[in-house]
Amino acid sequence: TKLGVLVSGSGSNLQALLDACARPDFPAEVAVVVSNVPTAFALERAKKAGVATVVLEHKAFGSRADFEKALVEKLVAAGVEWVCLAGFMRLLGADFLGRFAGKVLNIHPSLLPAFTGLHAQRQALERGVKLAGCTVHFVDPGMDTGPIIAQAVVPVLPGDDEAALTARILKEEHRLYPLVVKLVATGAVRLEGGRVVTAAGP
Ligand code: GRF
Repeated sequence: TKLGVLVSGSGSNLQALLDACARPDFPAEVAVVVSNVPTAFALERAKKAGVATVVLEHKAFGSRADFEKALVEKLVAAGVEWVCLAGFMRLLGADFLGRFAGKVLNIHPSLLPAFTGLHAQRQALERGVKLAGCTVHFVDPGMDTGPIIAQAVVPVLPGDDEAALTARILKEEHRLYPLVVKLVATGAVRLEGGRVVTAAGP
């Protein structure tokens, strides 16, 4: 199964996916990495792994529809079946999601539906929750609102600052995202009628 990974930043989740795909028994490969930020370190990670990269700066396009059309073209040209958002800081609309319906995943550093959007870890600390974590979900046009596939939980410890909590959650992100990609790539999990369906095991 060919993956397209969309990034805007450091790309540590991309790295986790690249590492997983390098294992001989993993049912997916990263066909292309697309960044909307030309300086994203994620692009270096892709190049080091020998994966094709594309930079599409959203500002260079006249409209979101034009940007999404270009995005779709690059992914289709690379033979991509599943799209993984990995620190990709743009919302995707109907033009994109229509073409990859039910085949777009995102990872978010909170236990959704709590703390959508930016600085989820800071929001969790400010709210004083004792459990935090990360969520992998199917993408819909909202921000971090799509159907939830899997979550991982970490404790919020006394004395945690944003950096400490972020690091604890990130470690779980790197475990959870490849696991979910494996589930969708093998058909064990899919989106049907807006709901996450789990296939019966063997
Ligand atoms: C991660 O925390 C991810 O959950 C969020 O953005 C961050 C990206 O980090 N959507 P990285 O670029 O994968 O290191």
